[in-house]
Amino acid sequence: MLLPYTHEPFTDFTIEENKKDLLDAIKQVEAQLGGHYPLVINGERIDTTDKLTSYNPSNKAEIIGTTGKATKEHAEQAIEAASVAFESWRKVTPQERANILVRAAAIVRRRKHEFTAMLVKEGGKPWKEADGDTAEGIDFLEYYARQMIELANGKPVNSRVGEQNNYIYTPTGVTVVISPWNFAFAIMAGTTVAPLVTGNTVLLKPASTTPVIAAKFVEVLEEAGVPKGVINFVPGSGSEIGDYLIEHPKTALISFTGSRDVGVRLYEKAAIVQKEQNHLKRVIVEMGGKDTVVVDSEADIETAVDAIVVSAFGFSGQKCSAGSRAVIHEDVYDEVVEKVVARTKELTVGNPAEPTNLYMGPVIDQAAFDKITSYIEIGKEEGKLAAGGQSDDSTGYFIHPTVFVDVDPKARIMQEEIFGPVLAISKATSYDEALDIANNTEYGLTGAVITNNREKIEQAKYDFHVGNLYFNRNCTGAIVGYHPFGGFKMSGTDSKAGGPDYLVLHMQAKTISEMY
Ligand code: NAD
Ligand code: ALA
Repeated sequence: MLLPYTHEPFTDFTIEENKKDLLDAIKQVEAQLGGHYPLVINGERIDTTDKLTSYNPSNKAEIIGTTGKATKEHAEQAIEAASVAFESWRKVTPQERANILVRAAAIVRRRKHEFTAMLVKEGGKPWKEADGDTAEGIDFLEYYARQMIELANGKPVNSRVGEQNNYIYTPTGVTVVISPWNFAFAIMAGTTVAPLVTGNTVLLKPASTTPVIAAKFVEVLEEAGVPKGVINFVPGSGSEIGDYLIEHPKTALISFTGSRDVGVRLYEKAAIVQKEQNHLKRVIVEMGGKDTVVVDSEADIETAVDAIVVSAFGFSGQKCSAGSRAVIHEDVYDEVVEKVVARTKELTVGNPAEPTNLYMGPVIDQAAFDKITSYIEIGKEEGKLAAGGQSDDSTGYFIHPTVFVDVDPKARIMQEEIFGPVLAISKATSYDEALDIANNTEYGLTGAVITNNREKIEQAKYDFHVGNLYFNRNCTGAIVGYHPFGGFKMSGTDSKAGGPDYLVLHMQAKTISEMY
């Protein structure tokens, strides 16, 4: 019997011992730099001619490691292996599959700082964010293990006299998992183990910028007892093998987390029934956000300032949940803006592997740096630059936290996902108008409202159309099992990762009725 689920505690790096442990782990990871991690297909390590190279975004000359790079032939081999392995894995009991996740969680927990250090180096994550990413990965393992045990016998249904009815959940089949780099451990691990624990076999294609931490997680799964062919590691270029994996007639389920454009394309492609395909594909697609912190006239000012700054600049704004917009009631606008700008100017930026525990690291790569800095130029046309604006890509991809004020709600920097440390602020003349502005994008992922007025809180519960709505706090940092996560509108299929309905999306419900 497992202990009840509670989330993994966060590490307090103001405690000297914790700080030393992490710095030791960073040294340990630095000693492993340059390692090679081949593809894993049917339990075999496969060498490839081409390789993916993972670089440190804080120091682009430093190679974190290389992985194999799958071709379409490798993708085909992996789908075949997963297809064969499915026939035995689907019959392994839910309890045994859950046990493997619990063992994997124990392995990661023992090596927690090592995974955190890898996120610092490969993902450019500051300590707090990297520690949160590792903790969230452990949470997914522990939470989904327990969820699977709860679902093992299905759900109760009625039976008539002389009849025995059962309603159970069965696996779906070969699953393609395509994960993003911004939660290079947590989302990669969570989206991999959900199909595994529900009895599906997996091809994992991690983001090309962060494949090494994914390779390390695959090793953990193998150590925990995942049999060969059940997890296949196929890093590669999305444009090269993406369509092949998605369109393959044996692919039963696709779990994608990433940008809107790639997600929508994938969603459309998966809907087309291919020759020799005898099922409809299930698709989980979680995409971007343009998330808003609304500040009401009846707000606590310090809570508002804290919520805006944390939501906008945690992990340099590279979260789908990032509060990249703030909409502030005119009665408190000047005061909140002044304090947000002052707080932003205090934030530290630099290489997170340094022993100083900085607030912000780099952005992930040159493409992100170029995109974000071009939005800063757009912002200078669309609003008033009140903080930041500086950037430097000579060593790593560093951009200072940037605030634009007095921005029109329809401006591009208020509408488009920048995915960097750029905050746009608009003024509203009423609470109703603030909520209208908050809803005026195509996205609907997260949002926060800062108010002390109960009626306004109740109003927002109906009228603020986002998948994760928070009051009197920041709009980032959902915790597995506490804040199930997923978005409305063009933010995705609202799968609610880390929630009680998530695993069911990976299974087929089967009604079994027997007459005695
Ligand atoms: P991305 O769309 O560029 O890449 C995501 C994954 O898709 C990567 O593994 C990538 O290699 C792969 N890919 C790219 N092109 C492909 C193709 N043609 N076919 C198949 N796969 C392909 O996104 P990203 O830059 O890695 O991540 C950032 C985006 O992810 C942001 O938009 C962010 O909001 C979003 N995101 C959403 C959530 C959520 O839960 N809603 C969580 C994290 C990130
Ligand atoms: N789940 C992550 C958050 O809430 C993206 O910030």
